[in-house]
Parts: sequence; structure tokens; C-alpha cells
Amino acid sequence: MAITFTATRSIPKSTKVRVRIVTTDAVEAGVAGIPDGQLTSAGFSGKPGDTHVHPDGKRTEVLIGIGDAADVDTDAVRRASAAVGRRSGRYGKLGVELPETELDGAAARQALVEGIALSTYTFTTYKSDAKPSKLATVEVAGGTGAKNQAALDRGAAIARGQMLARDFVNEPGGVLTPAVFARRAQAVAKEQGLAVKVWDEAAIKKGKLGGLLGVNRGSTQPPRFVELTYTPKSKPKGTLALIGKGITFDAGGLSIKTGAGMMTMKCDMGGAAAVIGAMSVLKDLGAGCRVRAFVPMTDNMLGGDATRPGDVLKIRNGKTIEVLNTDAEGRLILADALSLASEAKPDAMIDLATLTGACMVALGPKIAGLMGNNAPWIEQIEAASDLTGERVWHLPLPSDYRKQVDSSVADMKNIGGPHGGALTAGLILQEFVADGVPWAHLDIAGPAFTDSDDAEITKGGTGFGVRLLAELAVNFTAP
Ligand code: BES
Ligand code: MN
Ligand code: ZN
Repeated sequence: MAITFTATRSIPKSTKVRVRIVTTDAVEAGVAGIPDGQLTSAGFSGKPGDTHVHPDGKRTEVLIGIGDAADVDTDAVRRASAAVGRRSGRYGKLGVELPETELDGAAARQALVEGIALSTYTFTTYKSDAKPSKLATVEVAGGTGAKNQAALDRGAAIARGQMLARDFVNEPGGVLTPAVFARRAQAVAKEQGLAVKVWDEAAIKKGKLGGLLGVNRGSTQPPRFVELTYTPKSKPKGTLALIGKGITFDAGGLSIKTGAGMMTMKCDMGGAAAVIGAMSVLKDLGAGCRVRAFVPMTDNMLGGDATRPGDVLKIRNGKTIEVLNTDAEGRLILADALSLASEAKPDAMIDLATLTGACMVALGPKIAGLMGNNAPWIEQIEAASDLTGERVWHLPLPSDYRKQVDSSVADMKNIGGPHGGALTAGLILQEFVADGVPWAHLDIAGPAFTDSDDAEITKGGTGFGVRLLAELAVNFTAP
């Protein structure tokens, strides 16, 4: 159940749990109602990770450290708030006080909601002893103004979108087949007033999406291609296209993965999940641009007629690809999606994909690789990343590496040399972006899925990219 966040002037006496997020500066100056000696002997100095619980008879007083006031940014608030969320699962209701800092009040409130809501997320569909957090109501002190409530509402909307993306990723590949995924996307569209078009297999054949068909060839599950469109109430400030890799399970195809390599491969639609999750919050955020989503969906299996290494696929835009490793499948379905998105002539586009293990090797589990063809667009994405705490790192697309994917039988092959795999994948994608369209590619192979809880991130699908995409859509200006 979604948590309700309400702006309040101060925390009412009737609220039995009061949480104060405090800076080290505030602790040094003395925390009202708690004797200094008690904090010193408990080792509580207000650093991130510090917690102190003080039952004072009338209500439970909780202190959560956030660090030095001068260092507090939205990310620090999100992290401290996640600590609040993780410690509050047994309470139905909390009052929370933000620390005194220079940080913009609205940004702080939004981050607080994101931190609390996201950290209490659990995926319980298949648990017979599920113990979800009981937290239902959070009162946020500091003023009841409409601006304050709007900031809380923005945080709640974004968290809802990110948790929807997590739900999609966490659903097993045997359940979330392309047909099921497309139907769920359709349901989201209906609820949110988005226009939706689902291409079935016949439409995909007619539309000559040869990459999607080639990857799907080893599967008994038919593919889908989902298009969603958000149209703002007032005249759109340009058109943004979002593309998401939707491999509902990646076995590798005939170039089969190892057992261990396959274990988390239900996450290979993390890009698609982030795109649909972001689309689902645009109405609530009142995004001012038109946003069009293009999401190819298939699994990558190894049936008796699966695409063989050496086969050549013809992509929507007419270019051909020799498939030498069927496990490099994401670029094949994205090639069709980028071609189609280009035909819509958007002012800018961005694709999200759990594309390469190489990117994970380069940047680790928390940072996405960012590539693209347009510096102002890259800067816009880096700015959105800074605001949302979803970290990206700009990588090059060296044109002299393009020869690594030269093929003797087709326009290109689907793999490059042994090194720089994130970049050769990006170079292949670039072949399907029409000239003049600002484009960026986010390789989220690292941050889409995690095996451990950390701050607002919970084990399993992370929903990485939803905050960044939503922020991009809200502040979009054609590059
Ligand atoms: N879905 C994988 C990439 C991946 C790996 C995502 C680990 C998340 C975690 C992708 O389809 C893949 O298999 N890529 C290959 C490409 C290679 C064959 C050129 C890879 O990275 O090994
Ligand atoms: Mn693969
Ligand atoms: Zn894959």
C-alpha cells in the first residue's frame, strides 16, 4: 500500500513517533528534549548512519544523522530518509522533521519522500510469509503551504513510478512474457491517460522489425512492440523519445550463457521497465513536452530454429547485421526501436538498456555508462543525473573503433573486439539513429539490478532511470 505524505506545521502531540533528521552541527548545538550526555554516551554525533532511539514516556523520539550541514544535498536527504524508512516498518504513522540546512525546501521534501517510500519497497508476490512495512502515514513538519505539499506529491509520484519499474523487473521471466509485459503496459497507459499501440507478431513482421524477429526466433513466446505517448495539457515544449530494452529473459540464445550468468537475466528488461515507469508519472508531474516511448519486447531463447551465429538480419532502417554472438541481442532489438523512434523525428531521444557486461566491469554496480552524439543533450542528461542522484558517466563513441564491427557479409556484425565492449555496442546503436537527431544511450547493466540493500535501493530490480527520465521530461528543452 502506498504511504501517504502530508505537510504539517509541526508534528502533532498525537503522533507517537517523532523522527528528527539532524546534522552534526545541530547535535553540537544540543538537541531539544534529549540530554547531551545521552547522545555522547550513545556515540550519536549526527553522522550518516547514526541512529538514536529515545522513548520519553509520551512518545518515541528518533534521531537520524545526516552529516555536516555544509555537505547536505538532495542525495544526503534521500539516504537519511531511507534510513528512516528502513527503521520504521513496525510503525503505522511517523512525524518527520527535516534538518536545518541551506538546501531548497522543495527539493529536500521530494528527496525525503523518495527515500522513505523507496526504502520500504518489497516484492512480496511469491512470499507466503510476507511482512511488508506497516508504514502508512508520514507527516512532514515545516509548513503546510501548497508548495510543500506539492513537493511531497512529486516525490510520491516518482517513487510510485520507480516501484512500478521494480515490480516489472522482479517479476520472473517465465511470468512476464512479452505478451504479459505488453498487456501490463497497456493497463498503465489506460490508467494514466497515455495513448498506447501494441504491435503483435504480425504487425512486427509487416513493419520489418528484423532485429526483434531475429532475436525472437528461438522462442515459443511471440514478441511485442509497445508504443506509449504522453501529450501535455498545454502546447508541448518539443518531443522527447524514450527507448527501453525489453528482453524479458536473456538466456543468450545459441551462444548460451552459463548457469550463473543467467541467474539474474530476468532483469534484462530493466530499460523497458524504467521507460514505462517514467511514462506512468508524467501526468502527475505535469511534464511540459510530448513524450513518446518505444519498447521492443522478446526473450532470447534457443529453440530449434533459433537465429544461428552467421545469420544476417535486416533492421527496420534497411541496414543489415551479421549475428556472430546471439548473446549480443539487445543492440539487435534496439536497432529496430531506434530506427522507428528516428522516423518520429523527436527533438531528442535516449535509450536505456542493460546492454553490456563490459559497462559493468568499467563502472561497477551503481553507475550507468552514458554515450551520445550531441554535447548539449549529454549535458542535459548529466544535469538530470545530478539532480536525481542516479549516477552516470560519460563514455566516448570513438569513430575509429567502428571498423571493429565491420563484417565481410553484411553492413556490420553484432560484436566488436575483446575490449571496450560498451563502446562498440554504442557504436552499433548509433548506426540506427537518423542523421541530425540528438541521441543518448545509457548502459544500465550495472545499476538495474542489485544483490544488496543500500539506502533507497532494495535487493532485486532497482528501477534505475525512472527518476532521471522523469526529470528529463519535466525540464526538457530541445538541445
Ligand atoms: N543482457 C546482457 C548484458 C548484461 C550482463 C546485463 C550482466 C546485466 C548484467 C547482454 O545481452 C549480453 O549478454 N551482452 C554480452 C555482449 C557480448 C556477447 C558482446 C556481454 O556483455 O557479455
Ligand atoms: Mn545477451
Ligand atoms: Zn541482454
